[in-house]
Amino acid sequence: MPAATDELFLRRAIRLAMNGRGMVEPNPMVACVLVRDGQVIGEGYHARFGGPHAEPSALADCRERGNSPAGATAYVTLEPCCHTNKKTPPCAPRLIEAGVARVVIGCLDPNPAVNGNGVAMLRAAGIEVTNGVCEGEAKQLIEPFLRSVEHDSYLTLKWAQSADGKVAGPGGKRTQISGPESSRLVHQLRARSDAIVIGIGTALIDDPMLTPRDVPLRRKPLRIVLDPQLRLPLTSKLVSTAKDWPTAVIHDECRTNSRHAEELRERGVAVHCSEHFGRRGQLEAFAALQLIREELGVRDLFMEPGPTLAGSFLAVANRVWVFRSLTSMNDSTAPAAATIPAQLVPSGTIRVGDDELTEYRRPMIDAATDRPYAVSASADLVLASSTPS
Ligand SMILES: NC(=O)c1ccc[n+]([C@@H]2O[C@H](COP(=O)([O-])OP(=O)(O)OC[C@H]3O[C@@H](n4cnc5c(N)ncnc54)[C@H](OP(=O)(O)O)[C@@H]3O)[C@@H](O)[C@H]2O)c1
Ligand SMILES: [Zn+2]
Repeated sequence: MPAATDELFLRRAIRLAMNGRGMVEPNPMVACVLVRDGQVIGEGYHARFGGPHAEPSALADCRERGNSPAGATAYVTLEPCCHTNKKTPPCAPRLIEAGVARVVIGCLDPNPAVNGNGVAMLRAAGIEVTNGVCEGEAKQLIEPFLRSVEHDSYLTLKWAQSADGKVAGPGGKRTQISGPESSRLVHQLRARSDAIVIGIGTALIDDPMLTPRDVPLRRKPLRIVLDPQLRLPLTSKLVSTAKDWPTAVIHDECRTNSRHAEELRERGVAVHCSEHFGRRGQLEAFAALQLIREELGVRDLFMEPGPTLAGSFLAVANRVWVFRSLTSMNDSTAPAAATIPAQLVPSGTIRVGDDELTEYRRPMIDAATDRPYAVSASADLVLASSTPS
């Protein structure tokens, strides 16, 4: 099969896999497209956590359409699983039983129980396997999952800015910069994340709820405030709703036994400390991610930073979403957005209502060549661009 044909069907599988976004986590999004004589004869994707994997879905679709998978090529975005200690039976044996002739894979599954074993099982059964087709795109599709297997975090930053680069009104006053269609995307991303993170500056000025609203919600994301001096008011919306919505504050070590810490705990806020939060910079941002990962057990983070927090966390961000409105603030006292470093590369721009959304991603590195893959748009951006706003 010519390489261009393999890429075409693998890309079709990548796009199909995106339909599982928000429903399959912490599993990866995966899809499988079955092709014979250049025709798609069945396809399927992993649609929900605990539900069937992509390969059995594609095989079922193939049979429902009256086709036989025998002799077909299966295009799968991720190496078929072969381990049994999980919710669903393994997929590599299903492809073998179905008699497929060839399997084309986007990337290996780094999960130690798979990691090449799925490929080995297929080859041992006489199936031709090609791995690494559209590898960069296949990996970027599931970057949060890949990072989590490596015991690492995945951090998305998002903010809205006016046409002249301001993130708030005169003197930092709260101002709605982006339109309702952009807000809806933000609520979606909140709902798809393990945690929503803000700095105390924003908590004090905006007094946000930080809950995902008017979007499907599978679980309540944790709300985290980075608050070195433990200034979060007991009267804030975050604290007064903490018994209903999980809420955590991370602060500087010496305040653990303070009366304020005690009062926050009484209201249901989890109070964590790190000696690093009083200082600002990249190292502190690393330390914050580590604490959030290890003590709070959350990895896929959605941060809505003011310019101060952005200044520290851009150095460790994997992805940034910037909503740009068409209108200018025209006020020199309004705070300006942080500057996006050159290491974060634009991976797509779409129109959202009257706003423009640009996504930036930190390129993933191809371990075989030590070179960065070309960045591709995340599932969230692709889905946002194909949903009428
Ligand atoms: N347009 C948007 O999308 C958007 C989004 C969010 C906020 N805003 C606006 O931004 C303004 C607030 O921004 P801001 O810059 O003042 O506050 P911020 O970024 O929300 O919070 C900054 C504070 O976080 C704490 N912090 C903890 N760890 C930190 C670290 N590693 N690096 C830096 N700071 C750390 C510090 O508190 P301590 O000072 O106590 O040490 C710091 O002052 C408001 O006007 C708000 O409306 C706009
Ligand atoms: Zn599987």
